[in-house]
Amino acid sequence: MKIEALQSRIRELKRTKNAIILAHSYQLAEIYDVADLVGDSFELSVAAQKTEAKIIVFAGVHFMAESAKLLNPTKKVLIPDPAAGCFLADCATVENLRAKKKEFPAAGVVAYVNSTAAVKAEADACCTSANAVTICRKLPQRQIIFVPDQNLGEWVAENLPEKEIILWGGNCYVHARISEEKVLAAQKLHPHAKTLVHPESPRKIRELADLVTGTGGMLKFVKGSNAEEFLIATEIGMLEKLSRENPGKKFFALAGECVNMKKITLAKILHSLEAEEFEIEVDPKITNAARQSLEKMIELGK
Ligand code: 13P
Ligand code: SF4
Repeated sequence: MKIEALQSRIRELKRTKNAIILAHSYQLAEIYDVADLVGDSFELSVAAQKTEAKIIVFAGVHFMAESAKLLNPTKKVLIPDPAAGCFLADCATVENLRAKKKEFPAAGVVAYVNSTAAVKAEADACCTSANAVTICRKLPQRQIIFVPDQNLGEWVAENLPEKEIILWGGNCYVHARISEEKVLAAQKLHPHAKTLVHPESPRKIRELADLVTGTGGMLKFVKGSNAEEFLIATEIGMLEKLSRENPGKKFFALAGECVNMKKITLAKILHSLEAEEFEIEVDPKITNAARQSLEKMIELGK
C-alpha cells in the first residue's frame, strides 16, 4: 500500500475506534503526519495520562508505551512492534538495583523513564531528560542512585553539586557513539551554528555544546534563538521535528538512528489499529509502585 493510502486508512480507524497516536520525535516523518501528538518523553507521558480516547497507539519504544499504560490503566495501549525495546532500559535489572539500594540504604532512587516498569517500581520517582535535574533536586535525600543512564546521571551531578549522585553504568548507543572529531569538524564547517547536545551524550561531547538539553528543550531553544544553523547531537529523527517547526533554519545531524525507534512503520501502525495488537500489559504486582514513581515525576516536574 502507498504511504497516502496507509495514512488515510489509519486516520479512518482512529476515528471509528476512538484511538489516538502518540509519537516520539524520533519517529519517521510519515508517522508524524498521522500522530495526534509528536513530542518528547515527558510530553507524551502527560498526554497519555490525560487522554479520553479508548485506545492509545504508541509510536515509540516499549518503555514509553508501558508508561502510558501505567499512567492511564483503563485504556488499551498498543505498541505496533513489541520488539521495539530500548538498549538503555535493558541496562538495569531489579536484582542489580536492589543490590545497589542495600549498598546505599539512605539513598533515594531516581529511575530515568528509559527503564522497565519493574525498575520504576523500585524507585522513589522517575524522570525524563527534561526534568532530571529538577526531580533530583526536589527529592529530600542528599544521596541519589540514578539509574540507568550514566551520562545523564553525570550531567545531573554537574548541575547539582549539593547532591551525591550514585551513577549506574548504562548508556544509549546512539548518543554514546557520537564522535568528538565529527562534532569538531561540523563546528569548523558551520562556525555560526549552535551545538545542541542531549544529556545522554558523553561528557566530552557535552563539553562542546552551547546547550545540553533533552529533545523538548532543543525545540524550545531553537524557537527562541536568532541563530540560523544548529548542530544536533541526538537521534537523527529529531531533525524532522526541528525542521517542521522552524522553517528557514538549518539543522545538521551529529548522531545516527535508533534501530528500535525505526522499527515502527505506518504498515505496523495500521495493523496495530486493525487487529488491536500488541497490547501492553504490566504485571499487577508492580503496577501501583511503578505508577507512583511516574506520578511523582509529573507532580515534581511541573
Ligand atoms: P527525550 O526524553 O529527550 O524525549 O529522549 C528520549 C530518548 O529516548 C532519548 O534517547
Ligand atoms: Fe533507547 Fe537510545 Fe533509542 Fe532512546 S535513542 S530509545 S535511549 S536506544
